[in-house]
Amino acid sequence: MSVEPHGGKLVQRVVVGEEQQRLLKEAKAFPILSADEDTLLDLENIAVGAFSPLEGFMTREEVERVAAEMLLPGGEVFSLPVLFQQHEPPRVAPGEVAAVQDEQGQIVGILEVQDVYRLDLPALARQVYGTDSAVHPGVDLLYQKGPYAVGGTVQLLRFPTHPYRRWVMTPAQTRGLFAQRGWQTVVAFQTRNPPHRAHEYLQRLGLEIADGLFIHPILGRKKEDDFDSETILRAYQLLVARFYPQDRVVLAGLATAMRYAGPREAVFHAIVRQNFGATHFIVGRDHAGVGNFYDPYAAHRIFDILPAPLAITIIKVGAVFHCAVCGGIASERTCPEIHAMRRASVSMRTIRDLLRAGKTPPPELIRPELVGVLQKGLEGSANEVIP
Ligand code: ADX
Repeated sequence: MSVEPHGGKLVQRVVVGEEQQRLLKEAKAFPILSADEDTLLDLENIAVGAFSPLEGFMTREEVERVAAEMLLPGGEVFSLPVLFQQHEPPRVAPGEVAAVQDEQGQIVGILEVQDVYRLDLPALARQVYGTDSAVHPGVDLLYQKGPYAVGGTVQLLRFPTHPYRRWVMTPAQTRGLFAQRGWQTVVAFQTRNPPHRAHEYLQRLGLEIADGLFIHPILGRKKEDDFDSETILRAYQLLVARFYPQDRVVLAGLATAMRYAGPREAVFHAIVRQNFGATHFIVGRDHAGVGNFYDPYAAHRIFDILPAPLAITIIKVGAVFHCAVCGGIASERTCPEIHAMRRASVSMRTIRDLLRAGKTPPPELIRPELVGVLQKGLEGSANEVIP
């Protein structure tokens, strides 16, 4: 039982071989569009099918439908805009083919321009993020990238450089790997953090119900005080090698930026993991949330009000914490309310604050074996690329 990609087919817009060589040559004469790292990674994600059914960056019509109704014009659910933003009015017109360059001037792909438009960024932010405040890191990033946008289908000619390239798998690769392992069901776990005890509880829950667990941390841009990708990968390597049945786990990275869009991002995260071949997706408390911008369960409820059902099964789990009376990690559904006063919440913010204050976080919050990795990450010394 393999799950269909969202929209029915895995988008494939990576050009190789002679066609790639021909286009790389031709593209030198095309008008140029420069893209930052986040945009290039999303070009890659579109091209490898991670964002299926998207075949390009969104046109105005697509952005408007997605923002207002969470639908693409073709009728598929989609919850976040995927934009090629520019600071200045782009010097390309619909009908033209543009060469997409990285900041070093290397051609990465081409874009068949369908639409060039100006965005009302605060209005878009309110619809998608529920706020137009630039204090919100996702909204801030949206504003920073400029009010103009180019929409159109893309082709990838070269994979953009990425420090953790070795950890990034394509949907075709993960689907192949899951099939090779004979997994009928795969539960995906999204994260932007190294693993703490609540994450582990959710992952073990996944291992109980599915044939395989797909741990898929974000390796794109995150906010300043999140842990770096190096630390996250090191910590997970250690957890998987020492504490998990390794043959039942796949660890790979998703090279896209965190948007911190809470419920809307939970839907996006689920769709993307379906494209990678997951049949199930875990959504815990305050998924993809930041500060107090979202109700912690808004990311559960949004799946009940989608304009169309998703093929991936959502596993919703409420707050996971350490309960002194239960004597271990428990959740709202497994621990009686009467223990409320004896529960210690498990969050990366608490763990980080303790580490920053020079304290060792207790084993109820994080495995002692992982503390050293996190400490190094905070000191900024986990910066050599891991093998
Ligand atoms: S997120 O931005 O990727 O959501 P994080 O890496 O902390 O942040 O969370 C990964 C997943 O674990 C999300 O589904 C989140 O809701 C869930 N999660 C994290 N901490 C808890 C917790 N204490 N209780 C329940 N779910 C949690």
